Amino acid sequence: MAEMWQLKPLLLLLVVSVCVMASTVAGDGGMPLVTPITKDAATSLYTISAPVEENDQITNHLVLDLSGPFIWSTCPDGYVALGCTSPACMHAHRFHPPNCPHTGYGKPDADNPHRCKCTAHPHNPVSGDTALDDMTEFTTSVNTTDGKNPLKAVSFVVSTSCAPESLLAKLPEYAVGIVGLARSALALPAQIARTQKVAKKFALCLPSGGRAAGVAIFGGGPLFLLPPERLDMMESLVGYTPLVKHGVSPGYYISANRGIAVNQIQVPLDGYGYWVAPLVIRLSSTTPYTKLRPDVYHAFIMAFDKATSGMARIKPAVAPFELCYDSTQLGSTRVGYAVPQIDLMLDGGKNWILFGANSMTQVNDHTLRASRS
Ligand SMILES: *[C@@H]1O[C@H](CO)[C@@H](O)[C@H](O)[C@H]1NC(C)=O
Repeated sequence: MAEMWQLKPLLLLLVVSVCVMASTVAGDGGMPLVTPITKDAATSLYTISAPVEENDQITNHLVLDLSGPFIWSTCPDGYVALGCTSPACMHAHRFHPPNCPHTGYGKPDADNPHRCKCTAHPHNPVSGDTALDDMTEFTTSVNTTDGKNPLKAVSFVVSTSCAPESLLAKLPEYAVGIVGLARSALALPAQIARTQKVAKKFALCLPSGGRAAGVAIFGGGPLFLLPPERLDMMESLVGYTPLVKHGVSPGYYISANRGIAVNQIQVPLDGYGYWVAPLVIRLSSTTPYTKLRPDVYHAFIMAFDKATSGMARIKPAVAPFELCYDSTQLGSTRVGYAVPQIDLMLDGGKNWILFGANSMTQVNDHTLRASRS
């Protein structure tokens, strides 16, 4: 199993260029689209909202899933299922969830036995459940942007899968589905690129919670920070990290085969069979904190324990965490609590550096945790 790396920054910008050429194949004239992101307090999941134009009453709240190959939601009565020969149906069957039998493209329509209704396998990454339901489409609208303000709403049709209510388990109460952002033709970035003639490129600014809102931009930059900085984040602040593919998964991965360092000292991993299993890290928007493969976890937690031996601990630790610190005794810096920095040593020579703001979670008023198995 790959490790998972959850993006849980104060305001971290993730720029995912869906294909390497994305920046050079910018679309012919369309404008990027912008939509606010909110974080659900109860589940720590990120959501966006999409008005359903067929029905003025409805705004779908959908959970962002970086690894999701398409969009799914519960469907209103009277929706129209897509046919089995539609291009969306072909695309829907390119990715199969694990442990799911191939069932063909669809099944006979009960109302018209000569017609084949396209079905898909919507998957909930939080509960781990998968269902089988009809493919359909709806019209939504999203604002264009110049990187500073929303400009005007544009409407377009998105192909989606229906899903039973039961597939909503463990999602925020108000959410009706998932919007997949993975490398696939039915994920939202690709559907926007196709309909808006913009680049297959998107950026997420994930909010840390509370009232703060984040933002998602589809189709390329610029993306300006609020005054006084006014920097274009796409150009100025972002370090680029090459994404790698991992098997047939449509998700986004980075490769840290040079290892992990704590306080710039490399964590010894070779005693744990590390050279057999490469350090591939999955970027996840649906895991509330980092998960590490057991061999890497044990080596890492030993190194972090040693590097923080002088820091006041809370014992016993707050489950499910193993190392907890008394936050009133920790120094603080511009980049969070003063704890050892963690470097993910990426292929190609650069490091992805995690400071206290990204590596520590406030469990309660006094306790911080470092990691968990
Ligand atoms: C577009 O932007 C306007 C102004 O900020 C906002 O009121 C409206 O809800 C936005 N529309 C959509 C579809 O997000």
